[in-house]
Amino acid sequence: MKYAVITGASKGLGAAIAKRLIHEQISIVSVSRTENKEIKELALENDLYYKHYSCNLSLENEVQEVFMEIAHSLFQKEPHEILLFNNAGVVEPIETVGNLDQTPIISNIQVNLIAPILISNLFFNKAQSTNTKVQVINVSSGAAVRPIEGWSVYCSAKAGINMFTQTAALEQVELKTNNTIIAFSPGIMDTNMQETIRSSSKTAFRDLEKFIEYKEKNMLLAADVVADALVDLVLSGNVESGKVYNIKDLLE
Ligand SMILES: NC(=O)c1ccc[n+]([C@@H]2O[C@H](COP(=O)([O-])OP(=O)(O)OC[C@H]3O[C@@H](n4cnc5c(N)ncnc54)[C@H](OP(=O)(O)O)[C@@H]3O)[C@@H](O)[C@H]2O)c1
Repeated sequence: MKYAVITGASKGLGAAIAKRLIHEQISIVSVSRTENKEIKELALENDLYYKHYSCNLSLENEVQEVFMEIAHSLFQKEPHEILLFNNAGVVEPIETVGNLDQTPIISNIQVNLIAPILISNLFFNKAQSTNTKVQVINVSSGAAVRPIEGWSVYCSAKAGINMFTQTAALEQVELKTNNTIIAFSPGIMDTNMQETIRSSSKTAFRDLEKFIEYKEKNMLLAADVVADALVDLVLSGNVESGKVYNIKDLLE
């Protein structure tokens, strides 16, 4: 039996990943502040285990509490495999350094970097005393490897998640576990995050017009196309642990 834990399954890429996994008969644990009822219904129609946990990933205590409960309930089912998609993300604050507010800086790092580290640590820890294989998929961004003016916090958090992924993968090899951990850059997708980006100000974000043009010229990837390519990779059994995958390479 396989279970998938997906953060940010309420919308965008996370929702598309959840739908595709349900199609593959994989049970779903969804974690976000709001619940997507369509995913719940789809899972139940397919007779799959489904549970939503409401959690604000920018609050460390909530992350610890909710994920202890999730890990406890999943590992006691002794599944063959757990797929952990650290997908939830926030792009804000979009602002130049010197003009940033403190609270959104901290929330961004909490959601994009600290929560995935805490959750991966907990799941690899729990896996040690079981026969369950854990596959971690950290959703990253092209912004991890390319500085974008106005996105300093987001770029830094995503660069951090790539390095965390690469380091943890080396350790798992050394420890001779079956666990894998990869990062995945999904390209520019037509989701709420892009709406947020398009509604930022030109003074805060120099590339604003370019991103408005991406939408106008229909250049954004559909989340379900990206989710399909990612899930195909993850279910292939051939992931190269430690690799930062790019959607471009998967869609070729
Ligand atoms: N869209 C793009 O062009 C693009 C490009 C590169 C990388 N990415 C990455 O792809 C991933 C998915 O992004 P998306 O485009 O699908 O974004 P989205 O449509 O804005 O969805 C973001 C998801 O994250 C959850 N989330 C945000 N803040 C949260 C918090 N504090 N606590 C719990 N959940 C939270 C949201 O759930 P609730 O609101 O229900 O809590 C939502 O389900 C992110 O990691 C993003 O950085 C996106």
